[in-house]
Amino acid sequence: MGDKGPNGARVVAVVLAAGSSERMEGRDKIYAPLGGRPLIYYSLALFEECAEVDAVIVVAAAGSENETRAVARDYGLAKIREVVAGGVERRDSAAAGLSAATSVASPGAAVLIHDAARPFASKTLVRRLLEALVDADGAVPAIRPADTVKRVAEERDVVATLARDVLRLVQTPQAFKLGAIAEAYRVAVRERWPVTDDAAVLEQFGGRVVTVEGERDNFKITYPQDLAFAELVLARKGAGP
Ligand code: C5P
Repeated sequence: MGDKGPNGARVVAVVLAAGSSERMEGRDKIYAPLGGRPLIYYSLALFEECAEVDAVIVVAAAGSENETRAVARDYGLAKIREVVAGGVERRDSAAAGLSAATSVASPGAAVLIHDAARPFASKTLVRRLLEALVDADGAVPAIRPADTVKRVAEERDVVATLARDVLRLVQTPQAFKLGAIAEAYRVAVRERWPVTDDAAVLEQFGGRVVTVEGERDNFKITYPQDLAFAELVLARKGAGP
């Protein structure tokens, strides 16, 4: 699954938490309370509890690094090796995290890149992703869209109706061979590619990316009403404090 890095990390997780939460009506969603704990706690706790994961890098918004370190301290999250500042674009935050990851693991190690805004990914999903790396450069969780997807022009005119059976909605964490994704991101940053999905960066270089079964609960907190829905999911899971 991966070589031992210079500091022993065979699997390193990069948690992205440097977004501006523009669609959250002014609230920084990453520290918003969910079940009485900050949202970021759940993604950090996932990797803390995952036996396969050796080290965690957190990418925080510039100026919020100490708030993130406080969460790590308050909840005894011992796998966090570094908290680094992100950038304005998600691409730059991912690149910052990968750069830190390369200092704790070798190019042959595996890296999991995850949105801090997804509190409900499971340990089983992480395991599925890492197993898929055996014969792929990248693995992504994917689910089938429940709705039909159309392509539009001018924000309005329908240009095409896409065949649903070949479409997938892609989530995080996404798993990669560290050397391959770090190298791909170096080019993406240099050439300022627009990036909404980490695997897409590797796909540009012809890397083999495969899907594994994603999880319906593993949605991303994006809009204010998503937090209310997340409270219901948490209550159903019985995982509240
Ligand atoms: O904005 P969006 O919800 O798509 O962000 C997905 C994840 O990427 C979030 O966890 C967010 O904090 C992170 N992000 C980041 N740096 C950015 C933009 C987004 O770390 N510049």
